[in-house]
Amino acid sequence: MSNNGNGITYGVMGWPVKQSLSPEIHNHWITQQDIKERYGLLEIEPKHLKENTAQLVVSGLKGFNVTVPHKIAIMAELDDIDDIAKIVGAVNTVTVGEDGKLSGTNTDVYGFLHNLKLKAPNWCADKPALILGAGGAARAAVYGLLQAGVPKVYITNRTLSKAEGLSREFGSDVVMPILWESRESVVGDVALIVNTTTLGMAGCAELEFDLTAAQKQTVIYDIVYKPLMTNLLLDAEARGLNIVTGFGMLVHQAAAAFNIWFGRYPDLSDGFTDDLEGRFK
Ligand code: ATR
Repeated sequence: MSNNGNGITYGVMGWPVKQSLSPEIHNHWITQQDIKERYGLLEIEPKHLKENTAQLVVSGLKGFNVTVPHKIAIMAELDDIDDIAKIVGAVNTVTVGEDGKLSGTNTDVYGFLHNLKLKAPNWCADKPALILGAGGAARAAVYGLLQAGVPKVYITNRTLSKAEGLSREFGSDVVMPILWESRESVVGDVALIVNTTTLGMAGCAELEFDLTAAQKQTVIYDIVYKPLMTNLLLDAEARGLNIVTGFGMLVHQAAAAFNIWFGRYPDLSDGFTDDLEGRFK
């Protein structure tokens, strides 16, 4: 475990976690807002999650983000979990109270939805949507879309049973599973298509997806941000469709966590996140 003996009072827990952009993002905002805290990497092996979390709290940790693979496992170490994190089934932001109690929430839903509304203001939330994938990110997306008033969410996943599980959980009248082999069958009926699978990510296989039947106003959202422009987005752009990259979701989930800890949102208009995004182009 990396420790917080060097003045780190906030951080991101993960394994591995060196690749995380969170320290760079949060420390920029901490300086911008003239806050006297420091955000660092908290590299924690899954088998040591319990004792390392307790140690960090004792040594002065005030809050932390949680990333792969701890987003579900951390829930067992918390004193309180809010409704949104319970529904999503994962925690990505934890606050340590003055009494040492740990409260968890999930800002991925906010990050997902806020980014979508900002980047695709003409998106029709009153039309059906299609989600590719049924993992943790898909859960946040389903919940966010239902909150935004989307009347029907189709979910297609390689492992159909996971899509069926989400349908049972969120309501079979609003969430409909689709066979992965038939994933393009509803393209012409939806106003939004979201890729939440790892396909298209650097180092992973490409996503095969035919957008020919998409309507002109359909929004294509890929939550993968490495690379920023996945093949899905390049294809969508070439067809003149509205696209949303995944980078903003990362920024806005972080901004929401920052607000929880420090009681204010950072100023996102200073060009910092645009520069950062430029690195992934
Ligand atoms: P996250 O928490 O980021 O959503 P995850 O829970 O590991 O990550 O989910 C990854 C998603 O990518 C899953 O929907 C997974 O499909 P399965 O549920 O069938 O595993 C999907 N995925 C990963 N590799 C895939 C592949 N080669 N083909 C199709 N889907 C894939």
